Amino acid sequence: MKLLVTGGAGFIGSNFIHLVLAERPGWEVVNLDKLTYAGNLANLKHVEGDRRYTFVKADICDAKAVAEAAAGCDVIVNFAAETHVDRSIMEPMAFLRTDMEGTFVLLETVREGTVGKLLQVSTDEVYGSILEGAANEGFPLRPSSPYAASKAGADLLCLSYWTTYRTPVVITRGANNIGPYQYPEKVVPLFATNALDGMPLPMYGDGMQVRDYTHVEDHCRGILLALDKGEPGEVYNIGAGNEMPNIEMARLLLVELGKPESLIEHVKDRPGHDRRYALDSSRLRGLGWEPRYDATKALAATVRWYAENRWWWEPIKSGELYRAYYRRQYEER
Ligand code: NAD
Ligand code: DAU
Repeated sequence: MKLLVTGGAGFIGSNFIHLVLAERPGWEVVNLDKLTYAGNLANLKHVEGDRRYTFVKADICDAKAVAEAAAGCDVIVNFAAETHVDRSIMEPMAFLRTDMEGTFVLLETVREGTVGKLLQVSTDEVYGSILEGAANEGFPLRPSSPYAASKAGADLLCLSYWTTYRTPVVITRGANNIGPYQYPEKVVPLFATNALDGMPLPMYGDGMQVRDYTHVEDHCRGILLALDKGEPGEVYNIGAGNEMPNIEMARLLLVELGKPESLIEHVKDRPGHDRRYALDSSRLRGLGWEPRYDATKALAATVRWYAENRWWWEPIKSGELYRAYYRRQYEER
């Protein structure tokens, strides 16, 4: 089995590559990534020397580069995307391009070439805010942010390719992931690294927004299962059911690090902020998926990783690119 993993230098993609190379000895991985601000080859330094692993620097919107990288591959697993909601509110264009046009290029690559399947990694944000109960795969798509809308557009394009051309595509929709190698713009690594440096934790609004904080390893195992056993044309939700309001997550994180609650600073809310996400993942559970991390264990393991791996995040946070983003996003909030 030879996989083309797109966006493999990001948070979830790199964790997925680690999992595949560790648990599927006969498999090969080609990682195609544009290396945007979120792509980081340091995430993959432990597999650099593995003969089963190759890296290609390219854009998923570049059809020729994708076709070349895809030659001889059995499947494409697409993690490549612009992924941060706040950035999509600032500058939506890159989201439409990569998340929608990029997915179109991958679909065409499968439709026209010899690759057997596309696994499209999507998100629970496509359902919008779920105030009660949990969204199953048949729920209407009501995205709130330009990010979520571009992911929903990509999902619909994938499903249309299955309906129209019978292009084999499987979609997974994951909940909020936490774990190693997450860019410190996302709330858990941001709060953990700020707390470690004694800096405030900017809590949007009242902090009562609920997220299902699923460990990235559980998510990656779910994607692998959907790749093995998922039906073409189907969607599989992947959420551990670790629902928690942000304020509670921040308090637990601070206790874990031995830092005071006074670091929490309430700031202006995110526009269009979804109040709650909740997934019904029984379809994937029916195939045998079972999360290994509950909320407390996932959060504790994640926070410990950032405490022990300053080598990974300090160069990012001290760089001018990150600092400029932080000033723009938080300084006058
Ligand atoms: P990330 O931002 O950490 O990484 C994205 C990767 O894609 C980076 O390596 C980046 O360089 C690459 N990339 C961006 N544009 C590209 C392009 N045009 N061509 C090639 N590579 C490009 O993202 P993540 O958090 O790892 O998310 C991966 C996927 O999982 C995304 O599709 C996202 O929508 C989805 N998802 C994320 C979460 C989450 O909680 N982080 C949850 C559910 C689903
Ligand atoms: O649900 C899956 C999605 O999870 C993925 O599709 C996205 O790619 C990923 O970024 C994530 O989206 P969120 O918007 O939920 O994640 P974020 O880490 O940005 O925010 C999580 C919650 O924390 C949300 O309620 C907003 C809040 N927050 C976030 C930041 C960055 C704060 O209170 N303060 C902050 O500084």
